Amino acid sequence: MKYLQSPITLPNGTQLANRIAKSATSEVLGTIKNEPTPTLIHLYERWCRSGAGLMITGNVMVDSKAIGEPGNVVVEDKSNFEQLKTWAATAKGTNTELWTQINHPGRQAFGVINRKVVAPSAIPLKMGAMSSFFATPKALEEDEILDLIERYGNTAAILKEAGFTGVQIHGAHGYLVSQFLSPKTNIRTDKWGGSLENRARFVLEIYRTIRDRVGADYPISIKINSADFQRGGFTEEESIQVVKLLSEEGIDMIEISGGTYEAPAMMVNKKQSTIEREAYFLEYTKKARQVTSLPLMLTGGFRTASIMDQAIAEGHLDIIGLARPFILYPNFPNEMFSGQLEKLELTVPKTGIKSIDNMGMVELGWYEQQLKRIGQGKSPNMKLSPFSALSAVTRSIVQKAFRKN
Ligand SMILES: Cc1cc2nc3c(=O)[nH]c(=O)nc-3n(C[C@H](O)[C@H](O)[C@H](O)COP(=O)(O)O)c2cc1C
Repeated sequence: MKYLQSPITLPNGTQLANRIAKSATSEVLGTIKNEPTPTLIHLYERWCRSGAGLMITGNVMVDSKAIGEPGNVVVEDKSNFEQLKTWAATAKGTNTELWTQINHPGRQAFGVINRKVVAPSAIPLKMGAMSSFFATPKALEEDEILDLIERYGNTAAILKEAGFTGVQIHGAHGYLVSQFLSPKTNIRTDKWGGSLENRARFVLEIYRTIRDRVGADYPISIKINSADFQRGGFTEEESIQVVKLLSEEGIDMIEISGGTYEAPAMMVNKKQSTIEREAYFLEYTKKARQVTSLPLMLTGGFRTASIMDQAIAEGHLDIIGLARPFILYPNFPNEMFSGQLEKLELTVPKTGIKSIDNMGMVELGWYEQQLKRIGQGKSPNMKLSPFSALSAVTRSIVQKAFRKN
């Protein structure tokens, strides 16, 4: 594992001790008022000692009026600053960088738990039986767009002050930034829609605002979709263009993923050629490499040490992102580096009821329940019932619906 264990220096001088990164994992361990809890902090105490070079937190919301899931942490002011400082301090004394991912869900927000569901355009999600859970969003007014851009900057500045060592813009998976980028969800006719240049304005302005607030040396990264995998959506060619634009602006690292709630390519992979190489979006990195010399992180599907090492050796990507493996094997980098573990075997929890399993919520909920166990000092439970995960998700939505703040 010569390559996997080698350090890497980002353009701004930050050094990652090795090439293994935990990609963002929405922990939903916040309180009903969306504050960090001791369980969340304990989870990171364990993870930051796993030997990974980089930990990226689950998405932290920039606006309490619009959250992705009950239990998300919201940072829009300094009311929870002490808890944030304790969370950031979990990386102290380790070799791990701890970055936060910041996000706004846009239209991918349950109607019952949110006070304000907004998006670039008033286009509702199409998710079969699930569609009714998502309200039709209100198209953002220009002043609301400008307010949201400021919020990303404000959230990043607070998190930096709390002690987190970098920040990531969530630009993937069909959330607000990704909605602006996609011509399927952004049909605006003003300067925020239409041409790719206009659709990319939102993310570029967010990047510039964060940079202004955190300074030149602070690492800023983005997680971006290689494509939306939807007809009429954000294409691979457009994604490569956005990578080029962000590189020219001075972003420090680009993480590659793909898909949306409607087409969840980030979590599954069906192509035989990809199965052998494990990583879902490997071919894309080769194209991105042509337009940027920035460190590229690839997330989705990696499970085997030798395959990860080989991927780095080939030079199309620099950092291996993993999410579900960190949940079932919370200490795996240490175990991999010492030769005790070569392959991460994962469970795909299923209820057996196709319409429910296809929603993806069962898998997410199942993994989120495992996160709670780790935060409580327990081990993951491979035999955890998918039905109990589903009922926990439902319960938390109902609780939040009654206590919207
Ligand atoms: C429980 C759970 C929560 C997730 N939360 C986030 C998130 O907050 N932000 C994000 O960008 N991706 C999130 N993801 C997606 C992962 O970061 C990753 O892209 C995906 O799981 C594929 O990587 P893997 O095959 O290594 O799991 C989440 C995945 C899981 C399983």
